[in-house]
Amino acid sequence: MKQKLEEILQNGLKEIDSANDLKVLDEIRVKYLGKTGQLTQILRGMKDVPAEDRREVGSLANSVRQKLEEKLSEKLAALENAQLELEMEKEKIDITEPSKGVKRGALHPLTRFNNKFIDLCVEMGFTVIQTPEIETDYHNFEALNVPKNHPARDMQDSFYITDNILMRTHTSPAQVRAMETMKPPFKIVCPGRVYRNDDDSSHSPIFNQFEALVIDENIGLQDFMIMVREMAVRLYGKNVKMRVRPAYFPFTEPSIEIDATCQMCQGKGCTLCKGTGYSEFFGGGIVNPAILEMSGIDSNKYSGFAFGPGIDRSVMVTNKIPNIKYLFRNDLRFLKQMR
Ligand code: DAH
Repeated sequence: MKQKLEEILQNGLKEIDSANDLKVLDEIRVKYLGKTGQLTQILRGMKDVPAEDRREVGSLANSVRQKLEEKLSEKLAALENAQLELEMEKEKIDITEPSKGVKRGALHPLTRFNNKFIDLCVEMGFTVIQTPEIETDYHNFEALNVPKNHPARDMQDSFYITDNILMRTHTSPAQVRAMETMKPPFKIVCPGRVYRNDDDSSHSPIFNQFEALVIDENIGLQDFMIMVREMAVRLYGKNVKMRVRPAYFPFTEPSIEIDATCQMCQGKGCTLCKGTGYSEFFGGGIVNPAILEMSGIDSNKYSGFAFGPGIDRSVMVTNKIPNIKYLFRNDLRFLKQMR
């Protein structure tokens, strides 16, 4: 029996030594120490060993098992290490190789214009707010002095969700929401997407506007004009020329439309500005006192001005984009040209 154990030890150690991968090593473990392994069988057969030898054989068998286990775990560690080194060698990155180049992203032209306009407004002391794109008929129309059946509703053909809820047709409801929740004096600007049932090369069912509202004591048309001029200069440079036309909006009285030097031809006259050298900058005016009162602001104490530029047209002109739809298609071939 002792001799048999000695043999198992010597053979086992030799085989472990020469194992050169993890699978073989595990087979060796099973062969000697597994459930039906050679050593396990001997340990199981201890009861047949004569009582006087049992102690000695038992302790020898245990020490054989211990030696084999030690040797196995040493070899296991060595093999695992070797495999790790091999993998690290394979995954080594050659940092001296020339790079494939980094593909650069860029901001969408609408985002760039938006950011520029928002920065400008913040510099001028405006608070930027955001109001819902899904609006109530009240905020979108009624509170802006456009009751049901008012002809001005025709200009803003709308997407209704229910009789009283619609996709906002302009950012002007932001005026109402600001007046309802903020205490004058305040200056707010609200950038955002708006929706109308319009669709041709210069109209899209989705487009973008800004809404600006200034409420304070003693605000008049002159304050409005000074601010608009300052904005035009900061956006288009100090040589910008402007002209004012009378207009009609139910929420402002008087209402005006302001044109600025056409950015496509720099005022020389082109097809876009129909030879006039001017293109529309934005519409606005002095807030109709009826609107102030409807939203709970004392029109004897406060007055204000409001204006609402559409931004898609400006982005199209400055980037020479012929069709407004390009702005919303997310076509990479177009966007790549806009970098
Ligand atoms: N909301 C108007 C539109 O979409 C634009 C506008 C006109 C906004 C006059 C204003 C304003 O704030 O005072 O056509």
